[in-house]
Amino acid sequence: MNIDIISIFPDYFAPLELSLIGRARALGLLTIDLHDLRTWTHDVHRTVDDTPYGGGPGMVMRPEPWGEALDAVVADGGTTRIVVPTPTGRPFTQAMAHDLAREPHLVFACGRYEGIDQRVLDHAATTAAVSEVSLGDYVLFGGEVAALAIIEAITRLLPGTVGNAASLVEESHAAGLLEGPGYTKPSTWRGLAVPEVLRSGDHGRIARWRRDQALLRTARQRPDLLAALPESALDRHDMACLRGAGFQLSAPDVAE
Ligand code: ADE
Repeated sequence: MNIDIISIFPDYFAPLELSLIGRARALGLLTIDLHDLRTWTHDVHRTVDDTPYGGGPGMVMRPEPWGEALDAVVADGGTTRIVVPTPTGRPFTQAMAHDLAREPHLVFACGRYEGIDQRVLDHAATTAAVSEVSLGDYVLFGGEVAALAIIEAITRLLPGTVGNAASLVEESHAAGLLEGPGYTKPSTWRGLAVPEVLRSGDHGRIARWRRDQALLRTARQRPDLLAALPESALDRHDMACLRGAGFQLSAPDVAE
């Protein structure tokens, strides 16, 4: 996968040299090219923003540098997806990370201030796919931190970057549930013991316990995720586990 990032703060992206993303780049699984938006300004002050038409607070990013920047990095032939991090975008999810991980070329257009002049995105949409993506229901200073988070979520899904592919299957959000708690040695720490079942060696019991923990954690922390599961996702044991813990379930019939 090839990623281009356009920002007025390319230094924000220094962490992309580190750890597993740095390793993915060294292995050639991923290229990342950083671009300073001000490269495409032509005035002495290298201006990227101006006051909004119609009035109001804040500044809007001018279309000219953005237009030239995208002309320079978007590939001909419609193979590029432009990702615009913005609090007005669609919420970023693990499913979206999987979709983006399948793209050959992503361009992250990181806006600041009150965002980018809308005509930039409207025009870009004539030559590339454009996805406006929000990290969550809160407002950051700009798209840089969101781009970092999105790139990290995508890189983990590229074949060859996560050592143990099973961890991608069992992790939180893979099957619409949160993952349950994890434990390692020592078996007792500050008087707190690791649950006996995990030391039993009984793989059937361990799998059932882990599933129960995932269900209970999801019910407690993210009832919205539990409610969004298709009926067929919960079997008789699952329903019994949740009812036993006092969670009300509406589905009358479930798979055996
Ligand atoms: N830029 C500012 N706030 C943002 C958010 N919540 N998500 C993505 N990009 C942003």
